[in-house]
Amino acid sequence: MTTRTTADPCWYKDAVIYETHVKAFFDGNGDGIGDFAGLTEKLDYLETLGVNCLWLLPFFPSPLRDDGYDIADYCGVHPSYGTLHDFQLFLEEAHRRDIAVLVELVVNHTSDQHPWFQRARRAPRGSPERDFYVWSDTDQKYAGTRIIFTDTERSNWTWDPVAGAFYWHRFFSHQPDLNFDNPRVVEEIEAAMGFWLDLGVDGFRLDAIPYLVERDGTSCENLPETHAVVRRLRASLDRHAPGCVLLAEANQWPEDVRPYFGEGDECHMAFHFPVMPRIFMALRMESAEPIIDIMKRTPAIPPSCQWALFLRNHDELTLEMVSEEERAYMNLAYARDPQARVNVGIRRRLAPLVENGLRRIELLNGLLFSLPGTPVVYYGDEIGMGDDVRRSDRDGVRTPMQWTGDASAGFSRQPPENLYSPPVSDPVYGAAAVNVEAQLRDRSSLLHWMRNMIRLRKQFRVFGRGSIEFLPVTNAKILAFVRRWEGDTILCVANLSRHAQPAAIDLAAFAGLTPVEMLGYTPFPAIGGLPYMLALGGYGFYWFELRRDP
Ligand code: GLC
Ligand code: CA
Repeated sequence: MTTRTTADPCWYKDAVIYETHVKAFFDGNGDGIGDFAGLTEKLDYLETLGVNCLWLLPFFPSPLRDDGYDIADYCGVHPSYGTLHDFQLFLEEAHRRDIAVLVELVVNHTSDQHPWFQRARRAPRGSPERDFYVWSDTDQKYAGTRIIFTDTERSNWTWDPVAGAFYWHRFFSHQPDLNFDNPRVVEEIEAAMGFWLDLGVDGFRLDAIPYLVERDGTSCENLPETHAVVRRLRASLDRHAPGCVLLAEANQWPEDVRPYFGEGDECHMAFHFPVMPRIFMALRMESAEPIIDIMKRTPAIPPSCQWALFLRNHDELTLEMVSEEERAYMNLAYARDPQARVNVGIRRRLAPLVENGLRRIELLNGLLFSLPGTPVVYYGDEIGMGDDVRRSDRDGVRTPMQWTGDASAGFSRQPPENLYSPPVSDPVYGAAAVNVEAQLRDRSSLLHWMRNMIRLRKQFRVFGRGSIEFLPVTNAKILAFVRRWEGDTILCVANLSRHAQPAAIDLAAFAGLTPVEMLGYTPFPAIGGLPYMLALGGYGFYWFELRRDP
């Protein structure tokens, strides 16, 4: 196990997480598909970027009909990505650089090709083997349950001719839901956790955790029985590998995500799904209100727990946890092209969402790195990669990482037509225009800026651990808040407007202190009794340390 996870039980609060897919990062053996050997080769890049925790998307044996979220074996590596030994070498090299590694635990469902399902459909009714999954004679049971993949699925039930019954699935019909009322299922999941923990991983992202248990007459989401399972998985993790973490994917309203922390006995971290779309709304509306509003509606969490913040990830920018009106606004503002939409969301990367506006990309990352929680950066967004909305499902945001300007983006020795996915080929976002090599040489690139911000953020634990208070500002286009932890106080001010703005901020509580701008270490005028006056350029933002002795 890493020194990281043993040295400080709350290490994840100071982490900067980087999310990537092994297949998309770097092709080490030259077959056109990214692999563990390639990822290992690129660890130096990640170390220099400053991230200290990797979250790997599913890399297990799978028919890959949902990019690996359809698991056929929990305890192996998909042959395209290498061997278990390659994984071990990778893990060792990551740990040597003090980079923690989180892997996926897809608890809710398996592939229909998983031996458990193949066995279940043939096993006698009522047997423990059959009961690994959720069966019914009608497709009317649990009728109050919403459909998640609205573009592909019409029902959460699919008829299985072999079993002679319907099976339950919250996602694709090839992903039958496991039955968590069967204690043997929970044991198997605990065994899978144990397998990866023994190899030394630092924790798991718990995929689709709200849907574990079903009950008639409910929405089949966030049920007390589901929380009981999560508590059991947590207890098992703590027994097996104290210091390792669970990160919950619960795409729910804040009051429904909160219970996934339990009393500090469920997940250590949970993604803050509600704040994400509101950050984009605030930017488009040029108003701080959506962010302040959702943060005020976010309940307090136990001291050992932490939000995970993100701007983009491997899925669509989900609009499930916003009102109808907000959804319409977001679609109008960010996805006028109907092809950019999938399910209840927008399948675009960060840079194209903001029309490649560098100031906006920086502002959004500035918020990501300064709001309370642990930031998660999606691979490629650190260089402003683009997407391809013509690709099926969410594949357009999962294209090869762009390392150099050559035709295969420096991702592989294979020509572009032989890669697992064609690289983005577009005059603005293609590899010739956007790549790591060029941005390393260009001192004013986004990549250098990201490195700098990550370094700064890691120097101040207050970002990961501090409280937040929003400050009254005369101008609604300005977001101002202070973060406090132990002796440190940091003031963050952001201009959500594209034009220059004045801000008079009520800093009376900090009279006598001097704001020191953190990037240049420049002292600003001391805070007095009057509202503090600042001018910010379009999309500008400042981080100040409030110091007694500048
Ligand atoms: C999660 C994953 C998504 C996947 C789904 C079903 O939401 O993020 O990519 O398709 O679970 O496994
Ligand atoms: Ca390969």
